[in-house]
Amino acid sequence: MTDLNTLESDVLAQVARAADLQALDAVRVAAVGKTGSISGLLKTLGAMSPEERKTQGAAINALRDKVADAIAAKKAWLEAAELDARLASETLDLSLPAPHRRKGSVHPTMQTMDEMIAIFAEMGFAVAEGPDIEDDFHNFTALNFPEKHPAREMHDTFFFNTKENGERMLLRTHTSPVQVRTMVSQKPPIRIIAPGRTYRVDNDATHTPVFHQVEGLVIDKGIHMGHLKWTLETFLARFFETDAVTTQFRPHHFPFTEPSAEMDVQCDRSGGEIKIGQGTSWLEILGCGMVHPNVLRACGIDPDEYQGFAFGMGVDRLGMLKYGMPDLRDMWSSDVRWLSHYGFSAFAAPNAASGLS
Ligand code: PHE
Repeated sequence: MTDLNTLESDVLAQVARAADLQALDAVRVAAVGKTGSISGLLKTLGAMSPEERKTQGAAINALRDKVADAIAAKKAWLEAAELDARLASETLDLSLPAPHRRKGSVHPTMQTMDEMIAIFAEMGFAVAEGPDIEDDFHNFTALNFPEKHPAREMHDTFFFNTKENGERMLLRTHTSPVQVRTMVSQKPPIRIIAPGRTYRVDNDATHTPVFHQVEGLVIDKGIHMGHLKWTLETFLARFFETDAVTTQFRPHHFPFTEPSAEMDVQCDRSGGEIKIGQGTSWLEILGCGMVHPNVLRACGIDPDEYQGFAFGMGVDRLGMLKYGMPDLRDMWSSDVRWLSHYGFSAFAAPNAASGLS
């Protein structure tokens, strides 16, 4: 009769020695495979007396289970070691330069937006956000657009289907609803910008149905037009990285500001290019004004105590001017040649310290 203890220590020693999965499997077949040593022992049970079978059977089965457990544990260990080795050998060094693989780039609109945020952050503005799908109250009513007033038509709004309760949601036509959301949730003093996507039914060289704005809002005691003008001029000089930007303020009308103005930047649009600081064209880049007392009141702020200014800048327009892109529609064309020409490296994130562009 084979000594079970000897067999056990033999097999377990082989399991321990198996250096890879293949060797381990050979040990398994030799011990518990069809013609293996332990399987062979089980076959001898038939010839035993019932008492002997009882004790030997239990002992052989226990041995088989023990060996099977040891093999399973070793297998798991070998597999983990194999995976570790593979991970170690397939490590990618992401810091290595890969000049021939440079495929993706940061879209100029996003680069422009990041630059604007960096400048305003430096000037002490916090970033606020609001939803793209707005209701009538935030996009129009709280901003002093009278019911049924043609000013609402001015915005060429994309509306959703009317809901059962009669409400009709819309794609925000400007970032100004974030002014309202900020003023109802925050006490003055307020100094925020609200960058985001905006939507209007419009499409030509200087208009696309989706465009981007950066809204600005400052509410405090004693705020006046001088603060507005200084803020815009300081921003533009930083943004264009030159003091040679010529701008003009044109009187305008917005229901939510009084007085209101639009600001244009002087540029040259001849020869399929766009350049700033020269030429005979003016490109409108923003709307602005002093926050209308009705808007302050609608947001629970006393206009006798607090005043403020607001502006809404066209991000895509500012990007066009800074980076010389003559047609806004190209920004949506997904033309790889255009993107690789005007796109920015993902590693060149703008910040005030290392430079903007
Ligand atoms: N919301 C206006 C627009 O989209 C811009 C604006 C913002 C004007 C804030 C005044 C104050 O045209």
